[in-house]
Amino acid sequence: MKQDLVAGVDLGTTKVCALIGQVGPEDEVEILGVGLAPSHGLRKGIVVDISKSAESIIEAVEKAEKMSGFSINSVYVGVTGGHISSRVNHSIVSISPPRYEITEQDRGRAISICSKVDLPDDQEVIHTVPRAYVVDGQRGILNPVGMSATRLEVETNIITGSVTALKNVIKSFTTAGIEVTDLVLESLASSYAVLTESEKSGAILLDMGGGTTDVAIFRNYALLDTFCLPVGGNHITNDISIGLRIPLEEAERVKIEHGRVDKEDIDPADFFEIKDNWGESKAVLTSFLAGIIEIRVREILNLIKREIEREGPLDFLPRVVVTGGSSLLRGVVELSGEVFDMPSRIGVPLRVSGLVDRVTQPIYAT
Ligand SMILES: Nc1ncnc2c1ncn2[C@@H]1O[C@H](COP(=O)(O)OP(=O)(O)OP(=O)(O)O)[C@@H](O)[C@H]1O
Ligand SMILES: [Mg+2]
Repeated sequence: MKQDLVAGVDLGTTKVCALIGQVGPEDEVEILGVGLAPSHGLRKGIVVDISKSAESIIEAVEKAEKMSGFSINSVYVGVTGGHISSRVNHSIVSISPPRYEITEQDRGRAISICSKVDLPDDQEVIHTVPRAYVVDGQRGILNPVGMSATRLEVETNIITGSVTALKNVIKSFTTAGIEVTDLVLESLASSYAVLTESEKSGAILLDMGGGTTDVAIFRNYALLDTFCLPVGGNHITNDISIGLRIPLEEAERVKIEHGRVDKEDIDPADFFEIKDNWGESKAVLTSFLAGIIEIRVREILNLIKREIEREGPLDFLPRVVVTGGSSLLRGVVELSGEVFDMPSRIGVPLRVSGLVDRVTQPIYAT
């Protein structure tokens, strides 16, 4: 594997996406290869069949290798799922004389003390993300390194996941013959990809995938909270299948071709044809389909809103950014804005070059 190459794999519920890129001098990534494969062996972001997920990984990685012309043996892996949770921890370190100046080592020391939390046996730490620094009692410090002080306090977000769920992700990769460099929380990965620096002062990032919706909340340029709900686009497809009495594959096609939630803009006479469970053709009003989809999307958005509001009011968050495959449903971004009562936009990966037209789409955000 070449020195400056990086590779990442997103093991999603519906697709496995492998990216091979080259890191430039400013840490920007030029994408050299992309490989997509349908994901098997996952449910709601959790591995349920290792040999199947390994096959999907091999297929996606081989495609990316072929396109880039490089072979890879280790990858960063995005993780998600309802087993992920986050908690807050604090630590204080004293700054040693005679310089009384905070160094990178002091900062690292404070963060690493924070990461030592008492966890249940079945949980392990994935990331320790600093979210606020206090220097000699002074709050609101963005970067303490280089400051004069006698005491540094750090408040971190400890992101943990289920030991067995994470082990099974790693096992899927080792079974596929690929080493895992590190695990990366998907919502954190997509936030680096799609949020602008100024948006990190306050934003809700929603990654609406197939089996999961990942939520990351940013405030004061730091990750405030993150969680994952085990609902996503697959549930919408399921609702359409039941509501229209059509097979799942037909429901998925109907959703992608005709699905939308912007009800006011739909011509009431607009319709499309489907083949029902018995192979009979039927006409369905577009507005009827929109009604089915809207109920589910609203439910997902309201669940998220309630979860966020448990921590406090939403009013400090100026915007919502929606990404992931389900953000492509017409009107979802606007509906998110309406439910959260704030401006909304679709999130596509920034800071990448190379195969830009291929990766600047919401399904590649992580
Ligand atoms: N054009 C489209 N319109 C509507 N929905 C779409 C469109 N394209 C993809 N989707 C939906 O997006 C979902 C997949 O999104 P994505 O690729 O982000 O998920 P994933 O990463 O595989 O899954 P997860 O993140 O849940 O593990 C599917 O439910 C799919 O039906
Ligand atoms: Mg995903």
